[in-house]
Amino acid sequence: MALFQLCFMFLLFTSAAATCNQCVLSKAAFFASSSGLSSGACGYGSLALNMYAGHLAAALPSIYRAGAGCGACYQIRCKNSALCGTTGTTVVVTDLHTDKTNTTSFVLSSRAFRAMALPGKDKQLLSLGIVDVEYKRVPCVYKGQNLALRVEEYSKFPYYLAVKILYQGGQTDILTVDVAQVGQGNWKPMKRNYGVVWDSNQIPTGPLQFRFAINSGFDARYFNTYQVLPKNWVPGVIYNSTVQINDIALDGCTPCKPWT
Ligand SMILES: *[C@@H]1O[C@H](CO)[C@@H](O)[C@H](O)[C@H]1NC(C)=O
Ligand SMILES: *[C@@H]1O[C@H](CO)[C@@H](O)[C@H](O)[C@H]1NC(C)=O
Repeated sequence: MALFQLCFMFLLFTSAAATCNQCVLSKAAFFASSSGLSSGACGYGSLALNMYAGHLAAALPSIYRAGAGCGACYQIRCKNSALCGTTGTTVVVTDLHTDKTNTTSFVLSSRAFRAMALPGKDKQLLSLGIVDVEYKRVPCVYKGQNLALRVEEYSKFPYYLAVKILYQGGQTDILTVDVAQVGQGNWKPMKRNYGVVWDSNQIPTGPLQFRFAINSGFDARYFNTYQVLPKNWVPGVIYNSTVQINDIALDGCTPCKPWT
């Protein structure tokens, strides 16, 4: 690896290590309908409704992190022991939520909010509207589903490509995305357009592979998707990769006690 790449990876690592989000106390509210979240800032659109059984969340800017926090999973439990179980529920971030005072970290789909309740207590919990919660970031697990890329409709074959990253497993951030023709090492950078959408108007010809810089452990590494897009990629199509991210980024914070 060239020296400049090492320095680059080090910079990525140090900026990633600045976040510490283990077991945070905050508040959560809910959206009356999950369709509100499906048009979220991350850009998943209606595909979000199939992610985590519709357990979706809009998160504060400090968690959304200009789109880098999209697709991250959080375990959230409510602190009201009369109404809530101790495991809580796992949600995936699909939207940005702004709150002038930064007191409510998450606005959940009502399905996710109800899932924090003890059996039979979900209506009572919903009636509270807003609750004290404790949350921590956890790995995302998509059983039987590899990482996939959706070619956005407004892509213009063969020069301009915008892809949406779907089903991102593990507990990492995608820091950079490069694209290359399969079998060639001439990686071309893409840039985050918004949320989980990355684009470039310098797309190589032929079948395409991608590599992501992701944080992993206390370090960063490249994750190679191998071939995902065929030579004649088509806007609107979801292309499954043959691989999935399982890495866990560590942040040096004291982990919270395991939740039962
Ligand atoms: C809320 O969080 C944002 C982003 O982290 C920050 O810029 C802003 O100053 C915060 N506002 C308050 C009132 O703390
Ligand atoms: C991608 O995987 C999903 C789930 O396994 C499957 O339903 C879908 O048909 C696959 N897409 C393609 C283009 O093969």
